[in-house]
Amino acid sequence: MNVLLCGDFDAHAFAAWHRALAEAMPEARWWTLDQARAQAAAVNAAVVANPPPGSLQGLPKLRLIQSLWAGVDRLLADRSLPAGVPIARMVDPAMNAAMAETALWATLALQRDFFRYARQQRQGRWQQHAQRRADETPVLVLGQGEMGRTTARTLAQAGFVVSGWSRGGSAAEPGVKSLAGDQALWQALPQTQVLINLLPLTPHTLGLLNAPLFATLPRGAGVVNLARGRHLVDDDLLAALDSGQVGHAVLDVFHAEPLPTGHAFWSHPGVTLLPHVAAQTDARSAAAVAVANLRALRDGAPLRHRVEPTRGY
Ligand code: NAP
Ligand code: GLV
Repeated sequence: MNVLLCGDFDAHAFAAWHRALAEAMPEARWWTLDQARAQAAAVNAAVVANPPPGSLQGLPKLRLIQSLWAGVDRLLADRSLPAGVPIARMVDPAMNAAMAETALWATLALQRDFFRYARQQRQGRWQQHAQRRADETPVLVLGQGEMGRTTARTLAQAGFVVSGWSRGGSAAEPGVKSLAGDQALWQALPQTQVLINLLPLTPHTLGLLNAPLFATLPRGAGVVNLARGRHLVDDDLLAALDSGQVGHAVLDVFHAEPLPTGHAFWSHPGVTLLPHVAAQTDARSAAAVAVANLRALRDGAPLRHRVEPTRGY
């Protein structure tokens, strides 16, 4: 099997992925974009990480596009993707667990005012606030897919009052209330102390974290965006933070990454930011996931983690 490996990697990342994938599937030939272009008719599959638009054109025997990213919004934005070639995304339990850890840290810090105490430390201010229990802190997780379900389960196990919102409603997780549809979202928001976004970016979810949504939360609620920057209307969040409607925000993802120097989020006291590390792809486990799908393709077995391009995730 001849596999194109390409993406927005630097040379170091490319070498690390190449090593991990070649170790996991030594029987495949792993080609760079230039090598694949030179032998276009022989490429069977592509393993990609947000490749430059146009990279997957002109490969007549391409039978699988396997993303190393869980979110495929940038990949699907490439209008030249070959029609009808199956696309699979990264689903890795190690990534789901990492995401749940980030969400748990953010939720605990919001519930127990640890971000507020960090701000007070910078001001040299000694001030205690009333302590809130986990079982009186309602958390709403937007998205109940791989990441959202693991996160909701982890938070429920930690004692939080957890609801999970999705389009169709999610399979029962112990201690998690399943919510489906727009009406259920707007009914849940006024009771939500911590809002965690784990939705895919699609035309329906773009800009969902906006002024009307913040206005519907109880005053001082926490907002945690771990999915995509374009889910959030930055100026609406800044206004909600400045008015106190949102108490604190934890942001891992941004419209432009790296977040441009001088963006208001860098220095806003109500923002804790991370450089898109909530759940990093771990080459050790992710290579095995990608290779399992390549072997399924080779053996004529069903492909896993298929993306529905018209749905956007
Ligand atoms: P997933 O398994 O595809 O789950 C998507 C969930 O969102 C599903 O529950 C789906 O509902 C729900 N959904 C989609 N559109 C909706 C809508 N319009 N209204 C309500 N619910 C909607 O995705 P995942 O693996 O959990 O990943 C989620 C996102 O996390 C990725 O797309 C990516 O953007 C982000 N991510 C971020 C990082 C990071 O480090 N920050 C790392 C990995 C992923 P149904 O089940 O009803 O279809
Ligand atoms: C990271 O954000 C991913 O989608 O894998």
